[in-house]
Amino acid sequence: MEYRELGKTGERISCVGMGTWKLGYNPDAEIAALREGISLGINFIDTAKMYHSEGAVGMAIKGEDVFIATKVSPDHFAYDDVIKACNRSLKELGIKAIDLYQLHWPNPNIPIKETMRAMEHLAKLGKIRHIGVSNFSVEEMIEAQDALKSEEIVSNQVEYSPFVREIVDHLGDFCREEKITMIAYSPLGKGELSKLKQTRTFPVLYRIGVHHGKSPFQVAISWLISKEDVVPIPKAASIAHVRENVQAVELKLSKTEIEEIDEAEDRSIRPIASRLTGFTRRTTSFWSSIMEKRERLRKHGV
Ligand SMILES: NC(=O)c1ccc[n+]([C@@H]2O[C@H](COP(=O)([O-])OP(=O)(O)OC[C@H]3O[C@@H](n4cnc5c(N)ncnc54)[C@H](OP(=O)(O)O)[C@@H]3O)[C@@H](O)[C@H]2O)c1
Repeated sequence: MEYRELGKTGERISCVGMGTWKLGYNPDAEIAALREGISLGINFIDTAKMYHSEGAVGMAIKGEDVFIATKVSPDHFAYDDVIKACNRSLKELGIKAIDLYQLHWPNPNIPIKETMRAMEHLAKLGKIRHIGVSNFSVEEMIEAQDALKSEEIVSNQVEYSPFVREIVDHLGDFCREEKITMIAYSPLGKGELSKLKQTRTFPVLYRIGVHHGKSPFQVAISWLISKEDVVPIPKAASIAHVRENVQAVELKLSKTEIEEIDEAEDRSIRPIASRLTGFTRRTTSFWSSIMEKRERLRKHGV
């Protein structure tokens, strides 16, 4: 495994992390998959209150030295709600401090100053160690940083894969200049092969993969970690997928191959945030209702 610095924190996180959205369908196998990742050197796990996976992550990390990132949902951005949400996440995860606490996406209905005051209070109490954001534009990141007195934003978690790049086109230079890590979510294009196969990008990944004896998904991970200050967090529910994702770190693409993938850009897949922006202007409950629906389906089948 290789490690890179998170922002300017001096913390070393594995260059590939593990995402945990949509875990919970087969908890024993998923916990085993997370534990396999840890045993192979992954020390960075991403979760969120909204994913309902903090409990499973808590079980997987028992007795392990890992860097835990979780998120507060925008409906909990009021001061008291941030404090309560953090305490709940700490309990679910079974840890004393959250290594990276992220604002899941912007909430224009609650002043960012109020949210950041709560985040700094949590940092002072030692309940969170670093502050990150997710789905923030450059303008929103600047506003969020200005609202902080003693802490710095160390990361922005955004959708980034060979299939979706426009968000990083927008904030890549800013993050690199400020040394803010871009945590790449949905790095495998959510693994939806039927959609991915129709893109211009997929055949290029496939061809390069065949040349190296690797899968197109491993090529996608290798391409992402070839970028400065980027840490992909693929979600994998099986030991086999976790192993493949770790093995992708060994794959070193040539400059020509990286350029070929750079050039095979295809905008046929819309980023999640393009749906988000419109909705956050009006309400932040859109995503919450989707997640609640998923959770109901998972638990009760309705
Ligand atoms: N901040 C945000 O707003 C936000 C939004 C979306 C996601 N995220 C974070 O990013 C993480 C990853 O994104 P994602 O879950 O949307 O999608 P993803 O990681 O791009 O794709 C996950 C899919 O790829 C499959 N997969 C994993 N490894 C594979 C491999 N080696 N070969 C073939 N298929 C493989 C998984 O299958 P199995 O599950 O069967 O292994 C799953 O179906 C999330 O879990 C979450 O932590 C954050």
